[in-house]
Amino acid sequence: MSFNSCLKSLVIVAAAAVAFPLAAVAAPAAGGPIVIKFSHVVAQNTPKGQAADYFKKIVEERTKGKVKIEVYPNSQLYKDKEEMEALQLGAVQMLAPSLAKFAPLGVKEFEVFDLPFIFNNYEDLHKVTQGPIGAKLLAKLDAKGIHGLAYWDNGFKVMSANKPLKSVDDFRGLKMRIQSSKVLDSQMRSVSAIPQVMAFSEVYQALQTGVVNGTENPPSNLYTQKMYEVQKYVTLSDHGYLGYAVIVNKKFWAALPADIRTTLEGAMKDATKFANDVAKKDNDEALAGVKKSGKSQLVTLTPQEKAAWKKAMDKTHKDNMSRIGADIVNEVYAVTGYTSN
Ligand code: LMR
Repeated sequence: MSFNSCLKSLVIVAAAAVAFPLAAVAAPAAGGPIVIKFSHVVAQNTPKGQAADYFKKIVEERTKGKVKIEVYPNSQLYKDKEEMEALQLGAVQMLAPSLAKFAPLGVKEFEVFDLPFIFNNYEDLHKVTQGPIGAKLLAKLDAKGIHGLAYWDNGFKVMSANKPLKSVDDFRGLKMRIQSSKVLDSQMRSVSAIPQVMAFSEVYQALQTGVVNGTENPPSNLYTQKMYEVQKYVTLSDHGYLGYAVIVNKKFWAALPADIRTTLEGAMKDATKFANDVAKKDNDEALAGVKKSGKSQLVTLTPQEKAAWKKAMDKTHKDNMSRIGADIVNEVYAVTGYTSN
């Protein structure tokens, strides 16, 4: 562990001790409300940001103030890696990290969601997230002291850079920011780009200063973080999916009064519907916003160009089959109909 990450962990432990004494897991202080700190890294006007705020609203109404949800958007409290540590230590109680960020916890199976072109559309995806495969994956978090509550949609990713990315060759040598996923690392290498893992909160500046040349994200993230201001071209590739798992600290969850847990589960079900209802619309509106800004040009791929991306990126599937687990990958293939080259 480097000195820096050691120091960060110490800060999180200290914060946990102050904010969340373990002995007081869910017990409200002398009649006060149960407080759930919900930390996330995106803007409030994204699918995840809006769903978190909606969850807060309905939980506080339905529990008549017995539960208070404090939402901290935009990496205000913690960046990606730190928020995972903070959840495990109990400094925050709820998160909704992208599915690409679960492998560092030791659950590599979640990287199946990062495989390029594995889902054709939201319908394919929902068959996985809302079916037995999704439930099986969430259950794997238990051993890590985490309870998985739901999947929330964001959307399909675009690829941005300061040059139009059309042919596979256009990626050669470009430094591309990725989330902390080995599958995304392979995906970028499959087109001869140089992947660089970086916290979400640092992407805008890295693009602006040229630390990286490009990135991928659903339009709603590209738009709300103003990445389009520092990227001249945005390719509408829909080459991969980005979505979330809503998770809680398992000890905290188990210690909640049963009636409160039931109310929270009901509210989570409604917030999930809300998230998945707004996701596509938000992403469509974000793209329209990018277009209107005139700062970034939207690039479309011909069917042949898209097929070439898919063919090149298929290597990612082969190279990561054993890392993710052939069983899970094949189960998802059976649902979505993906066939390897
Ligand atoms: C990213 O790091 O690009 C995304 O995971 C951010 C998010 O939470 O949508």
